[in-house]
Amino acid sequence: MNGNYGQGKGVALPQDADQNGLSTRPDAFAPLQDTFGRTFDYVRIAVTEKCNLRCTYCMPEEGVDFKNGEQILSADEILRTIDVLARMGVKKVRFTGGEPLVRKDIVKLVEGAANTPGIQAVHLTSNGIIFPKYAQALRDAGLTGINISLDTVEEQKFKDITRRPGEDKVLESIELALQLGFPRVKVNTVVMRGFNDDELFKFTEMTKDKALTVRFIEFMPFDAHQIWETGEYFLSAETMIKRLKERYPLIQPASGTRTEHHIFQVPSYKGKIAIIPAFTRSLCGNCSRIRVTADGGVRNCLYSDQEFSVFEQLRDGCSDEDIVSTFRRAFKDKARDGFESKKKSAMRESTVKFQGRVSMTQIGG
Ligand code: GTP
Ligand code: 5AD
Ligand code: SF4
Repeated sequence: MNGNYGQGKGVALPQDADQNGLSTRPDAFAPLQDTFGRTFDYVRIAVTEKCNLRCTYCMPEEGVDFKNGEQILSADEILRTIDVLARMGVKKVRFTGGEPLVRKDIVKLVEGAANTPGIQAVHLTSNGIIFPKYAQALRDAGLTGINISLDTVEEQKFKDITRRPGEDKVLESIELALQLGFPRVKVNTVVMRGFNDDELFKFTEMTKDKALTVRFIEFMPFDAHQIWETGEYFLSAETMIKRLKERYPLIQPASGTRTEHHIFQVPSYKGKIAIIPAFTRSLCGNCSRIRVTADGGVRNCLYSDQEFSVFEQLRDGCSDEDIVSTFRRAFKDKARDGFESKKKSAMRESTVKFQGRVSMTQIGG
């Protein structure tokens, strides 16, 4: 398990911030911190809201009201934002979506991010459907990691959950990513009771001779249809760990990223298995993430619907310091954890215009 720095310390605003959370230090680009002492050095940027799948837990069949063209940040605007964040100490960039590979300039984005001074890792979260088409170009552009979503290895179940065919293509993408030598290859599996919880061991066996991390993700209430609300599909991280330990009693703790709050390795297996408590949220104390939506919304938590936008600023020829201020404002009041964020958002809903987005594809995962 990873460390838990920062949680519950309740320290005052960083000394270099005034009461609005704006930096008063001569170094306007000081790292982004919150009142709990957490430092934010990992940005997740959704580059499109569009997707070539329709996972039932994410989107309705007809899609959502996707923002398009002029309404979303251009490659130059995204790269400028990354440059400013890198000067504030951000080291890791993840491009998400929607499906980031449906964006035509994705290779240019990866290359630009990888060449930004200070950025040490550029990753991508993809559904793997069209990855083979771009894989070599992405590797050459400097992509250091790829997380590929796959909830089932059964063809019909894949069609049921994504409403599209393609399980074979996703498996091919995973193999290709390993062959091309991407430093980090991961499989994201959203676990749903009664749908794919019988595949936990099948996925675990993938790590026997493949140097990848399979990550079991708790199902979260972020789908347009709220299928989550029925409660019948949810399976907790705790239950997943219990089942894995029963089946693999010799399983050993391993090291992973901050999202990989629980991570293990079966002795002699090449890969790792992680369990992401995305709903039970025990990972929040370790949060280091900044989120930017495709239309330039800055969010300080996946569970918060409060947004601060860099969109107009970027279009209106703002200074780099203006961009910094928006990020500082967004993180000044970051709640202790996702439960507090959700509570604050519900309270705000009654007083301000609801900035809710109906699907994970708009929040960027
Ligand atoms: P790594 O950098 O490889 O650890 O990836 P990641 O987990 O940060 O990114 P990815 O896009 O693969 O996210 C996978 C899942 O992790 C998301 O769908 C969420 O379920 C969960 N997740 C990521 N960030 C957060 C977060 O800030 N809070 C919560 N609750 N879940 C998160
Ligand atoms: N609950 C949990 N994970 C989700 N994802 C999308 N919607 C949900 C949800 N409701 C996952 C995808 C992908 C990652 C970016 O987010 O499967 O792996
Ligand atoms: Fe597309 Fe990902 Fe949403 Fe599935 S979860 S519809 S792959 S954005």
